[in-house]
Amino acid sequence: MNVKTQIFAHRGSAGTHPENTMEAFEAALQVGADGIEFDVQLTKDQIPVVIHDETVDRTTNSEGWIKDFTYDELKTLDAGSWYSSEFKQSTIPTLVELLDWASDNSLLLNLELKNGVVRYPGMEKIVLDLISKYKLKDRTIISSFNHYSLVEVHRIDPTIETAILFMEGLYEPWNYAESIGASSLHCFLPVAVPELLVGAYEKGMAVRPFTVNEDKHIYTLIKGGCPGIITDWPEKASIIRDTLVIE
Ligand code: G3P
Ligand code: MG
Repeated sequence: MNVKTQIFAHRGSAGTHPENTMEAFEAALQVGADGIEFDVQLTKDQIPVVIHDETVDRTTNSEGWIKDFTYDELKTLDAGSWYSSEFKQSTIPTLVELLDWASDNSLLLNLELKNGVVRYPGMEKIVLDLISKYKLKDRTIISSFNHYSLVEVHRIDPTIETAILFMEGLYEPWNYAESIGASSLHCFLPVAVPELLVGAYEKGMAVRPFTVNEDKHIYTLIKGGCPGIITDWPEKASIIRDTLVIE
């Protein structure tokens, strides 16, 4: 497989910065990532925001469910101190803020809809309308563990790339993915077995395992021509990839 592996920074450069903040995304850009992965939830007033958990408990100085906060309430929270006092100014970005920033660079965007626990009715259209408004459709991949939501995304806009997220060792998942209109496979690293990587390659379907943090896994997947990896450590992954090119 003679493919240059694309490096996606998981939640931004989450190994070195507070996850899902503009600081983490900017860091990913600076160290040569090809793309960023980020998680989207909806506030009480239907504003898409970039945060992994359904609650603010783990990554801010407050408590409660995203669905119960208005955006004006959410934007005052400190989303960086939990990681380091150096980032006490960091806030929870809105999707608009992220897309606006992405308009000035050429990063690929892997937008994960976090609608498995809270369904957020109407989320798909709200998100797709914003991506269209910013003309970023051609470099955006929508993924989700909620595959009903991916079907809805595909129904609204069959031209945007969708990727199934999965944790289990599915047999020939490209058949299933194709059946719901998805064109790529975002699998948990332990199930990215050779049969899956080779079969997807033969089918022409991109595989982008997560979360690929150990050097030996990064090295093996890049050397094997895996189309993409999702990692907390984009700088390290870029260096490993550059070393392999020189070899
Ligand atoms: O999109 C890949 C990965 O982010 C999925 O898991 O929990 O880190 O959002 P999680
Ligand atoms: Mg994610």
